Amino acid sequence: MSVDVLLGLQWGDEGKGKIVDVLTPSYDVVARFQGGPNAGHTIEFDGKKFVLHTIPSGIFNPNTINIIGNGVIIDPVILHRELHRLSEGSAQSGKNLYISRKAHLILPTHRLLDAASEHAKGASKIGSTLKGIGPTYTDKTGRNGLRVGDIAAPNFKKRYSELRNRHLQLIQLFQFDPSGHLIDGLSFEAYETQWLEKAEWLNTMQLVDSEYFINDLIRQGKRILAEGAQGSLLDIDFGSYPFVTSSNTTIAGVCSGLGIAPRQIGKVIGIFKAYCTRVGSGPFATELFDETGEMLRKNGNEFGSTTGRPRRCGWLDIPALNYSIMINGVSELVMMKADVIDELDMIQVATAYRAGQEIIQQIPFDPNAQELIPVYETLPGWKTDVRKAAQQGKLPAEFEAFVHFVEKKTGVPIRLVSTGPDRSQIWKR
Ligand code: GDP
Ligand code: IMO
Ligand code: MG
Repeated sequence: MSVDVLLGLQWGDEGKGKIVDVLTPSYDVVARFQGGPNAGHTIEFDGKKFVLHTIPSGIFNPNTINIIGNGVIIDPVILHRELHRLSEGSAQSGKNLYISRKAHLILPTHRLLDAASEHAKGASKIGSTLKGIGPTYTDKTGRNGLRVGDIAAPNFKKRYSELRNRHLQLIQLFQFDPSGHLIDGLSFEAYETQWLEKAEWLNTMQLVDSEYFINDLIRQGKRILAEGAQGSLLDIDFGSYPFVTSSNTTIAGVCSGLGIAPRQIGKVIGIFKAYCTRVGSGPFATELFDETGEMLRKNGNEFGSTTGRPRRCGWLDIPALNYSIMINGVSELVMMKADVIDELDMIQVATAYRAGQEIIQQIPFDPNAQELIPVYETLPGWKTDVRKAAQQGKLPAEFEAFVHFVEKKTGVPIRLVSTGPDRSQIWKR
């Protein structure tokens, strides 16, 4: 039995949480393989709404095993808060949650370093979620990090203090004054006190050697779904560097973040919105600064699930989508938020870029340095409430034409179309 993968093909927030939740009844296991609490995955059902940051989106199904893999990074304060909130949603206070001992810890000083680094960059800042993602992965690859399994070691406090003090020295180099900086509304000292407490709590959770755990589940024939965070265009290697996150959000991250072999990978489900959004800095060729962009933000409620920041909005970008499909080997697509563009007379889709005198379909080495002017094809809008139409089992011809257009341009079938935030608002093709 193989491991299917669901990952975002744009700049994150495609609706991964919703689709993982929808697909969960078909799987025995859901596993997160990278990222950390920079993610915000929204799930809505029975009139309730939950936003998951670190916990896999299979958590609401009590029969599903949820694994936080070694490639994920964990802030114990955020994880504790998240789990506490979930107990209102039948998530069984973590009974079906397993955490890798090899997952790295986000220290309070990683969060200070993130803020200091962004502050030093000024106008060229990344637009980080300030959850400490970059500094934690830096310590991981620099071989200085602390892992979940280290909490149990007798010298954990000493190792924590050494790393923390080294970070505080680094922060001075940034000429950043941490005293005025709040972490989730708390002073550094108050956050640190909570953090040390919650690290002890984390040590009492179901910790596993997740690479053995997951390979055993594979051997038992369990059906496994790997849940991506962020999006392919934020990948550390393939995104618009340096305006990216610090992990491999693409398919390779599944193997390194869970300890599974490439030949175990089955379906690769790529998820995209019928338009594009991006939160934070970086190039975005099809970004709209007009009333259509405003309409997308308003109708799509495009405000960050983690930070509340307004998301930048624009038209669907086929060359970017095809790039993500290529890197990930996507075998099927899920289209999200089609309902958001219901009212448009005309829908634009970029199918190439103009770069100087040239028409190109590849993303150049440094899209930050070069102006890419989208070349659009225009499709007629459907001017119909697709949510209602999907419930009645008949979607308008213009809608079908839009779906076929994307399938033709990408060469990949669209298996599911989402027409609203609720679990039930899904149309299977
Ligand atoms: P994720 O990070 O990929 O899980 O996505 P987010 O949860 O950050 O953002 C997706 C947002 O769109 C959430 O507020 C979802 O509730 C919402 N959403 C998901 N699917 C749909 C859809 O088909 N239509 C609409 N209108 N909203 C959706
Ligand atoms: P989900 O999983 C959208 C963006 C940030 C910033 C850049 C780097 O909900 O789709 P970081 O905090 O990682 O140092 O920020 O990446 N970013 C996301 N954008 N969705 C996310 O996650 C994101 N996680 C990070 O806005 O531009
Ligand atoms: Mg999100």
